[in-house]
Parts: sequence; structure tokens; C-alpha cells
Amino acid sequence: MKTILVTGGSGFIGSNFIQYLFKKNEEIFIVNLDYLTYAGNPENLKPIESNKKYKFIQGDICNQELVEFLFNEYNFDSVINFAAESHVDRSIHNPNIFIKTNVMGTATLLNVAKRFWKNNYKNKKFLQISTDEVYGTLPENDKNVKFTEQTKLQPHSPYSASKTSADCIVQSYFDTFKFPILITRCSNNYGPYQFPEKLIPLIIHNALNNKPLPIYGDGKQVRDWLYVEDHCDAIWTVMNKGNIGEVYNIGGNNEIQNIEIVKQILDYLEKSHSLITYVKDRLGHDRRYAIDASKIKKELDWSPKYKFEDMIGETINWYLDNSNWVKNVISGDYLKWIDTNYK
Ligand code: NAD
Ligand code: DAU
Repeated sequence: MKTILVTGGSGFIGSNFIQYLFKKNEEIFIVNLDYLTYAGNPENLKPIESNKKYKFIQGDICNQELVEFLFNEYNFDSVINFAAESHVDRSIHNPNIFIKTNVMGTATLLNVAKRFWKNNYKNKKFLQISTDEVYGTLPENDKNVKFTEQTKLQPHSPYSASKTSADCIVQSYFDTFKFPILITRCSNNYGPYQFPEKLIPLIIHNALNNKPLPIYGDGKQVRDWLYVEDHCDAIWTVMNKGNIGEVYNIGGNNEIQNIEIVKQILDYLEKSHSLITYVKDRLGHDRRYAIDASKIKKELDWSPKYKFEDMIGETINWYLDNSNWVKNVISGDYLKWIDTNYK
């Protein structure tokens, strides 16, 4: 049985990914190393907590001694690095923790894996979960132009710059040492367990509480939305079939303006559009993201299964059914963590 180190497995995508693997009944042992920042929540993995093929470790990916201890203890075959500070607005407020976790944390994982695998990389894999934000922004009016794997890296926010730095370091370990890396770059995800600081869960939460819905700038920025389970499926496809040393873009071919999503959510909840409140634009706000996912489709035969029209309703229903989850994540520890790390 293979053993995989999944970092950041208690966050939004990581927890969906671990649940996805257990649903598929894969013959693997998973160690989830998560620091449980404000964004990580062990509740997300309650259903599999006591599964014999799962072990949770609370800790920091920057902690070299801990990562070494875990490699010695579990002899990992692969690493999938989800752990990150992931919210653009917070990176504008305080870039330092983004540089520490996203750059230094990734380097720590790479260095320990490289030392531990001792140049014998047969059947070993290090998958870096990256983002389409490394490519910067696209022209608004030319729908034929999308991000390909060859698009120049041109990040604008401290978040995307930290993810780009990590990508460059990960890529350099392949170029220099033939260390067995893979990189995936996905567009915006939506679905259950997303922290309600991100657009879709924030709008659902505020609308349900009749609070103003903050729309940055003119609200006509475009994102390319993908249901989180499709992202998980693409990641697993790349892990199993991807060519070592390569980058794979992942996207839903589903470009929507922010304001359109907000209106759809309001209509679904039968709430008034008067809650929409235009506010000051995000600094350095990227105008449009859109992924050209033809490489993963052609080479690995992957394409998304879910449709936005169906899954946005499912997602809203999940937040309606899990109001306690929302209440818990935005209180208590969350506020304490913000106090110590963001002030
Ligand atoms: P998230 O913020 O919901 O979760 C991040 C997780 O990492 C949390 O559980 C947190 O506790 C953990 N973590 C943070 N710092 C850590 C540290 N130092 N050591 C160990 N664990 C730590 O983020 P997400 O939205 O699930 O994103 C996961 C990954 O996917 C990130 O690398 C992000 O850049 C990438 N990504 C996200 C999206 C998206 O739309 N959310 C799209 C493309 C790529
Ligand atoms: O593209 C992938 C990226 O998607 C990931 O790498 C990031 O981790 C993830 O957070 C996400 O980044 P975005 O900045 O695109 O997501 P966010 O949900 O923060 O914002 C989506 C859009 O909505 C963006 O144009 C900003 C806008 N927005 C966001 C918030 C939170 C608003 O207008 N109002 C808001 O209150």
C-alpha cells in the first residue's frame, strides 16, 4: 500500500480531496499534515477521522524537524502539497506569512523529500498544488486568449507572487536534480467546506443574514469556476498519469463575471438585489482569469464532470444545511488567529 503525505488536508480543497480518495476506496495510507490555521478545520474530515488508512498530524510545513520525523516514521512514496495561505485580500494586508508558508514551507518539504529519497526517485512523486493566478491577468475583451502552460508567469498579488516563487523552486528541482515533480494550476474552486472569506461562501453567508454584499470595483471581473470535486479528480489524474517534470492547467471552461454569480445566488435564495453594495476595488485586482485546459484533456483524458448551473445550487444548499459549520469557523479560534497573525 502506498503512503502519501497530504499537506493542508484540513482546508477547503485538501479536505475535499481526502474525502474524494476515501470515496474511491483507493489502496493508500494518507498522512494529513495541517497546521490548523484559521482556514483549517478538523471537522471537515470527521467522517474518516478514525479510518485505519488515515492519520492526522497537526504541524507546520516550515518545521523541518517535524517533516523529517514524519518521513522517517512513514516512508512516504508521494507528497501532495495543498498547504498554503490562500486568500488574496489577506496577502495584501500582510504578505509575510504568505512568503513563509507558501515559499519556505514548500522549500522545506522539497528538501526533506529530496534528502530522504536519496536520489532514488523510482515511483516517487511530489505534486505542487498551484494556481492560475501565477499567470497574472487576461485581456477582458478577447475571449480567445486564455492561460496555457506556456503563458508567461506574471503574478500581481503577494499571494500569487508567493505561489509563483514556489512553482519556480519546485520546477528548478526537476531541472537541476531530476527530482520527480508535477505542478497543477487550477482556476477558482467552489463547493462545500470553503472558508466564508472567499466570494461564493461569503455572499451566501451575508445574503442569508441580510448583510451588505461587498462587490469590489465594478464587479465585472471574470473568474473561471470549477466544482471542487472536479479539481480533486484532475489532481488524482495528474498524480497517476501525469508526466514527471510537467505542469498541467486545470479549468472548467466556465467564465463568469463576479456580479453575475452574486445575482444568481440572490435569486436562488430569493433575496433582494438591493443587498449588493459596490465597494473600493481590491488593490492590483486581476481583471480576468480563464484556463486553456486542452493539455490535460488531450494527454490525460481529463475533463470536468459537473456543470456550474447544477453545482451552484448544490453548494448553496450545503451552506444552508451546514450553518453550524459556518458559525464555528467564523468564531473563536478564527478571531484569535487573526489577532496573532494579522495585526
Ligand atoms: P485553504 O486556505 O482553505 O486551506 C489551506 C490549508 O493549509 C488549511 O487547512 C491550513 O490550516 C493549512 N495550512 C496553512 N499554513 C500551513 C502550514 N504552515 N503548515 C501546514 N498547514 C498549513 O486553501 P484552499 O482553497 O483549500 O487551497 C489549497 C491549495 O490550492 C492552495 O495551495 C491554493 O493556493 C491552491 N488553489 C486554490 C484554489 C481555490 O480556488 N481555492 C484554486 C487553485 C489553487
Ligand atoms: O484562481 C484561483 C484562486 O482563486 C486561488 O489561487 C485562490 O487561493 C482563491 O482564493 C481564489 O482567488 P480569488 O481572489 O479569485 O478568489 P476570491 O473568492 O477572493 O474572489 C473572487 C472574485 O470576487 C475576485 O475578483 C474578487 C471578488 N470579490 C471577492 C470577495 C471576497 C468581491 O468582489 N468581493 C468580496 O468580498
